[in-house]
Amino acid sequence: MPRPIFEVEGLGVAVNDVEAARGRPEEGIMIEPHGPALAFGWVEAVHDVTFSVNRGEVLAVVGESGSGKTLGVMGSLGLLGAGAKVVRGTVWFDGTRIRPTRFAEIKAEKRRRRKPRKRERFMEESLDDDWRHIMGTEVGVMFQNAIGGWNPVEIIGQQAGEVLDEHTDLSIAEIESRVIDALGEVRLPQASKFVSYPSELSRGQAQRAMLAAALVKGPRLLVADEPLTGLDAGVAMAILSLIRDMQAKRGMAMIFVTHDLAQVAALADRIVVMYGGRIVEMGPTAEVFHQPQHPYTEGLLQSIPRPGLRRLQPIDGDVPKITDVPATECALRPRCRYAEPVCATDVPATVTAGGSAVACFRADSLTLKGIGGAE
Ligand SMILES: Nc1ncnc2c1ncn2[C@@H]1O[C@H](COP(=O)(O)OP(=O)(O)O)[C@@H](O)[C@H]1O
Ligand code: SF4
Ligand SMILES: [Mg+2]
Repeated sequence: MPRPIFEVEGLGVAVNDVEAARGRPEEGIMIEPHGPALAFGWVEAVHDVTFSVNRGEVLAVVGESGSGKTLGVMGSLGLLGAGAKVVRGTVWFDGTRIRPTRFAEIKAEKRRRRKPRKRERFMEESLDDDWRHIMGTEVGVMFQNAIGGWNPVEIIGQQAGEVLDEHTDLSIAEIESRVIDALGEVRLPQASKFVSYPSELSRGQAQRAMLAAALVKGPRLLVADEPLTGLDAGVAMAILSLIRDMQAKRGMAMIFVTHDLAQVAALADRIVVMYGGRIVEMGPTAEVFHQPQHPYTEGLLQSIPRPGLRRLQPIDGDVPKITDVPATECALRPRCRYAEPVCATDVPATVTAGGSAVACFRADSLTLKGIGGAE
């Protein structure tokens, strides 16, 4: 029985979007049962995200840009920037619940005891000590913008070692030696790069350095959010193979987020497909590639360039703005060639069967093209 290292259940993320909020009939969003409403201007953008990653497993999260991948994955880790907040859901790391935090629970309990107010301003939950410690020792993160992720005025080696300084009892010499090893492992020549400032690195080098900083703590989970975006094809291939080698060598679990399904064919054990702020399909990689169950997955697969394909078949239409997706229909309906009247009446529920899940009213009646399918 596979044991999950990371589990997310029912995660909801809201973004601050005043324009979108004006178009919504409700005034703000209620957070959790009995929680306060968000102040006007917040709109729930990512809904009911539920997934788990087993020890040593690679889970890919795919979907076109704007599907809500970063909000869902980074939200589950408590790593959202300003303008986005987790408003519901539970998260566990290795069986320890890390969200809601104890701090949030105490606040919710206080709220329950006092008279309800008409509307209350939402206050960000801070990560509590357990969660901060887990993030500092067990979870390595690679962000999309590698250069922007570094402090520009501190050398790379020092920044990579800071997390060890904060969360372990290692001596300075031990930390330095771990950082030098990690920079060597990602094939950055330590002698020159240990003392480099972020602006002195190329994009590819910055991404390697970010991988080293993530590995230096010996994480059990590596989360990489679009680590190849903006890199030349050759550099991207080299970094993908480096990430794959590191994951296999260390046996880490990994969540690999990308808009490019082709990147994960040889990397992922399972795939989560997101669209319109929801998970629309989830399943083992081979099944998702060969027997997709959701029309959106079929569209992504058919748009992958491959030999023998006379022309690419991109999915018709554009990705909707995530806060404009109606809560009363399937988000894909305007772009879906299989849509029927029922698709305009409600959001399809997610139906799970074994390790797979799909959210489409027509999933049972459709036979969709996999990657080996017709052109
Ligand atoms: N901090 C934010 N403030 C307001 N809107 C946001 C914020 N972050 C994301 N969004 C909105 O949510 C959409 C989905 O975001 P994101 O999760 O980054 O998508 P993906 O990672 O799939 O490209 C964005 O296109 C944007 O419209
Ligand atoms: S529910 Fe309807 S619109 Fe949505 S993906 Fe399925 S067939 Fe297409
Ligand atoms: Mg993203």
